Amino acid sequence: MSVILGINTFHAGASAALIIDGQPVVALAEERLNRVKYFAGFPKLAVLRCLEIAGLTFADIDAVAVGRDSSANLHKKLEFAIRNPAKLLNLARIRSKSKTFDDLKSLIAAECEVDKNSLKFQTYNVEHHLAHTASAYFASDWDKSAGITVDGSGDFVSCLLSECEGDEIRPVQRIFVPHSLGTLYTAVCQFIGYPKYGDEGKVMGLAPLGTDVYQGFFENMLKPTKNGFTLNPDYFLPFGANQGMEINDAGEMIVHRLYSDLFFKELGEPREKHGEITQRDEDVAFGLQRIFERYYMHILNLLHEKVPTERISMAGGCALNSVANGKMLVETPFRETCIQPAAGDDGLALGAALYVSNSILKEGKRWEMKNSYLGDEYSDSVIKTELERYKISYKELSREELIDRTTDEIKNGNVIGWFQGRMEWGPRALGNRSILAHPGFPNMKDILNARIKHREWFRPFAPSVLQERQRDIFEQDHPSPFMLHVYKIRPEWRERLSAVNHVDNTGRLQTVARDENPLYYDLIKNFESKTGIPIILNTSFNENEPIVCQPFQAIECFLRTKMDVLVIGSFFCKKDTAD
Ligand SMILES: [Fe+2]
Repeated sequence: MSVILGINTFHAGASAALIIDGQPVVALAEERLNRVKYFAGFPKLAVLRCLEIAGLTFADIDAVAVGRDSSANLHKKLEFAIRNPAKLLNLARIRSKSKTFDDLKSLIAAECEVDKNSLKFQTYNVEHHLAHTASAYFASDWDKSAGITVDGSGDFVSCLLSECEGDEIRPVQRIFVPHSLGTLYTAVCQFIGYPKYGDEGKVMGLAPLGTDVYQGFFENMLKPTKNGFTLNPDYFLPFGANQGMEINDAGEMIVHRLYSDLFFKELGEPREKHGEITQRDEDVAFGLQRIFERYYMHILNLLHEKVPTERISMAGGCALNSVANGKMLVETPFRETCIQPAAGDDGLALGAALYVSNSILKEGKRWEMKNSYLGDEYSDSVIKTELERYKISYKELSREELIDRTTDEIKNGNVIGWFQGRMEWGPRALGNRSILAHPGFPNMKDILNARIKHREWFRPFAPSVLQERQRDIFEQDHPSPFMLHVYKIRPEWRERLSAVNHVDNTGRLQTVARDENPLYYDLIKNFESKTGIPIILNTSFNENEPIVCQPFQAIECFLRTKMDVLVIGSFFCKKDTAD
């Protein structure tokens, strides 16, 4: 038996993944366990829980892989330091700190309080973007594809283009920082009042409300080159060797201001974090998404010239830009995408472990990711104990009754907390830790926001659609099992799907296949039989916090918010009724 532990540590989205004989058996982000969003410290709880779920100990681990390699691209780091002497000391400091991270055995022994002498594993550092690429390509059943990873930065690179074949990932082009589409996106988000790590998705949702008045501004910020693009340094503050990020004592990611004073001159004052969103902010969001898409497509077309195939494996934070992912299927020669759900840095744990299994150890046991359910699971007996501890009245129902009662509640406009099976890997709730609602009920978006989610008014909610009905409702038919593509909703469905139809008549869908989640599929199917709509609104089960992981977190969220019903395991709980 071969056991590989992958970790993403001291980086946003700290996480752990365990692979046995080439097959991932569990993968968890630390934030779900320690409740610190995008936690960027050591993923101690995730590592311990991975081993517990797999029934293994530290002594059973043969290899530990981490998705960072401080020696990668060293020549580029030195070039940068020579050009920016003031940053040299900072770079040296970071490099000496990285060295301690590179001694993984000591790190794990210290963080997890185990005897270092009991650890027999080999350790592997996998370059950040290779780990990203591996997290996608080695989750497919393809024997060949192009690979693209785009993010802010990782190991001094912001974009890697590669040729993936058999058990190898061959880099064909790197774009080095400071030239970075991720940095550009983050900088503009900061300016319009979204300064936190991970806020980029909100601005993507704001973009369709704007108009194209800042084209000139964005055109000046970067220019295409034959191998990618360059950013205009006048628009950005030099972000130094720490690549514009810092981790505070609580393990939270702090992003420094990235935009220069030129933004003030050309756009006026930045929006305060909780200030009113103006037409200017909407227009800036529009311009940002548009320029991002243009350069994303430019790089994808370059990649296709180097690796001419219709299949593409995609990762990095920018692969979460589901709007661009939908458009690339019609605007570039690529026709099939493989994007695993943890496309951001949380996915590095899985990617580093898959890279070691396939490309370094050549274990020859490829894995195909069919669903995202790699997390925690709780039995009915554990759930029942928790419900009784919180004095919640419940009904234990058969599978059929559970589906039928839940369907009726959704049909009647109630909001359901739905906690079932293994937790999803990656940032999206995909039918196991979800809040469910009617996709066309009047004002459902406002109801959800007022009662539970408290999200920005402009952000859309997502539809989960039966796989075989996708084409009837959406204009594109490439499946999107992990909610990573946005497609246009067909005109005849827009009114009936008012709660999930965004302002530009699109939806960020989840394609639901019965084989991958029979319970969730059957629920939607039953909803279709009662309403004629093969779609349920699906949003993550949380209230301004990481998605719930354990039963008690779901119960507390149910009690704290104005959720109507909690369906947890086989138990049906409804507020304000005798039953
Ligand atoms: Fe990354």
